[in-house]
Amino acid sequence: MTEAQRRAIEELGPLYTLPFDDKPLKPSGIFPEPKPLILEIGFGMGLATWQIALGRPEFNYLGVEVHSPGVGRLLMEIRDRGISNLKIIQHDAVEVLQAMIAPGGLAGLHIFYPDPWPKKRHHKRRLMRPALVDLMASRLAPGAYLYFVTDIEDYANQTMEVLGACGALKNAYEAFAPKMEWRPRTKFEGRAMKESRPCFELFFVKA
Ligand SMILES: C[S@@+](CC[C@H](N)C(=O)[O-])C[C@H]1O[C@@H](n2cnc3c(N)ncnc32)[C@H](O)[C@@H]1O
Repeated sequence: MTEAQRRAIEELGPLYTLPFDDKPLKPSGIFPEPKPLILEIGFGMGLATWQIALGRPEFNYLGVEVHSPGVGRLLMEIRDRGISNLKIIQHDAVEVLQAMIAPGGLAGLHIFYPDPWPKKRHHKRRLMRPALVDLMASRLAPGAYLYFVTDIEDYANQTMEVLGACGALKNAYEAFAPKMEWRPRTKFEGRAMKESRPCFELFFVKA
């Protein structure tokens, strides 16, 4: 973590982060304007996060990440760009979904390039497993979306299977989705493109 990131957590954290709580949060007390809420799991350094918050101001955003350097970096972007529709929770996203988000509380869920756990024996650690997908689906409002992107083909196929098997979700496309024009490319995507590896996009909607 750089000195600037450490200082950002200390000085800006109280302004733009929410502490983990074991009760559902009330978005009305958190954001200046009431808007449908979108949660992002694992924003990394937050590059796509702040760009989407600025580019789609009709939503409020909660970015959830455990990694301090990324939290520090995103805090500086929020301050420097005067972003009012984005807050951060530095905590495990699964616990945040379970405890802080009421059923039907989200208009969307973003999961971009989650940790791939490439070794077969570690696949069970992947985020997109049936029990967690059921939890995610339960937090979406009817008509809300789950947008998942990865450059790991077998993770994309596994996720397609798990999302397809979740009765509460429906694929908005025939198979993989096109890239949403409002989603900026991240570092992982740049690397994948350089190595001529395609990215896989999945866009499902709550029935
Ligand atoms: C491979 S990185 C991708 C970062 C970013 N989405 C991007 O596209 O550049 C995955 C991120 O997810 C975070 N992460 C993994 N599991 C998490 C969890 N349960 N809760 C919150 N963050 C998590 C990691 O700390 C890491 O920063």
